[in-house]
Amino acid sequence: MPAGTCTAVVGLQWGDEGKGKAVDLLAAEHDAVVRYNGGANAGHSVVVGGTRYALHLVPSGILYPGKLAVIGNGVVIDPEKLLEELAALESRGVDVSGVVVSDRAHVVGPYHKDEDELREGVLREAAGHSGGEIGTTKRGIGPAYADKAQRSTAIRVGDLLHGGDLRRKLALVCEFKNRQLAGFRPVEAPPYHPETLLALMGGWGERLRPRVRDTTYLLHDMLASGKRLLFEGANATLLDVDHGTYPFVTASSCAVLGVGPGTGVSERHIGQVLGVMKAYTTRVGRGPMPTELHDATAERIRQRGREFGTTTGRPRRVGWLDLVAARYSAMVSGVTGVVLTLLDVLEGLDEVRVCTGYRVDGSVTDRFIPDGYRLERAEPVWRSFPGFHGDISGVRRRSELPGSARSYLDFIEGSMGVPLRQIGVGPGREQTIRS
Ligand code: IMP
Repeated sequence: MPAGTCTAVVGLQWGDEGKGKAVDLLAAEHDAVVRYNGGANAGHSVVVGGTRYALHLVPSGILYPGKLAVIGNGVVIDPEKLLEELAALESRGVDVSGVVVSDRAHVVGPYHKDEDELREGVLREAAGHSGGEIGTTKRGIGPAYADKAQRSTAIRVGDLLHGGDLRRKLALVCEFKNRQLAGFRPVEAPPYHPETLLALMGGWGERLRPRVRDTTYLLHDMLASGKRLLFEGANATLLDVDHGTYPFVTASSCAVLGVGPGTGVSERHIGQVLGVMKAYTTRVGRGPMPTELHDATAERIRQRGREFGTTTGRPRRVGWLDLVAARYSAMVSGVTGVVLTLLDVLEGLDEVRVCTGYRVDGSVTDRFIPDGYRLERAEPVWRSFPGFHGDISGVRRRSELPGSARSYLDFIEGSMGVPLRQIGVGPGREQTIRS
């Protein structure tokens, strides 16, 4: 295959931008959808034929029959959640035979979820109030990636298939976890026991066995036979462990830079990178968000945009579009086009704003500040637009949008420096303006 015919889709904000719908639409033109990072912390909702599907670990392309949905080595897998998700999709008539799992993806064990919860509790206690924590999804993501880096206490999907190796590794896991967490777990909590974990995790392995593959070779075999891959970034660029608002980030490489390590496929195969962003901004969990609103407009956007977490149900923080942040993300992820989602949610507002710069310590900058504490000091510099009125959910051409909506889009496009490829005007697959 000539280089550069694959596509990557990545979030340009703090997650929940509507990547699921963008991936679902693009899946039609690709042969496999590949996840490269994150775990069950991610939540994508896709509406097909009026039915809403919430996906966490399974790549969004699964809703197109006949596509492979590959969970790459860079993902951390909670097998219990994955098996539940597969069963739920199957019970709704979705063909999940194309879901393939890397033997080198790391496993989230019950002790990782316990640790995630315990660490958040300790942070809360240390701060003396709620708000001292990172605000994780408590899905064990951070502790699982930490064990990947530790190596001695890591379990990979391939290990689940080999009883002897798994028994030996779990004995070590229990040795470390029982000692490390002893002071934090409630006294009545039973210690982790290798045989109990072996029964649980070995059982997961048996159920996953038919799906487990060396996905690096699988993907390269597909590339060699001219197939097109669609890489689906979970979480989002501003939650990237290296390039986001650290420490208020997740634990993986969410930016498109994570495709290589998370799949074994070089970025030179990617020709198109679509950055997905809402027509406004949301965030869940803690951390700075310069354009956050706390007024009736925020509540209106939250309700109209159904801004409640797919994974945790938490109400999302809401604010105006932050173009400083979005431009930074587009730069880091090498974006070639933008997918702007949820434009319809802004309908009916008298004024719409975007942030074009930050005022920090008396001077104005158009550069993002990828640091969870220093960014707190940034005050937005606004640009205001008249709002637009009237239902736009049936519009399929940009030229048919109200004039004020078009001015808003033109400004965003000019500022991002790359074309708007899709504009979402409703949740359905077809409620999209494409160009
Ligand atoms: P963790 O990934 O559970 O460790 O959470 C770390 C931070 O990332 C928290 O603020 C989460 O709310 C946030 N986060 C993780 N995944 C997502 C996502 O898919 N959408 C939005 N926020 C996320």
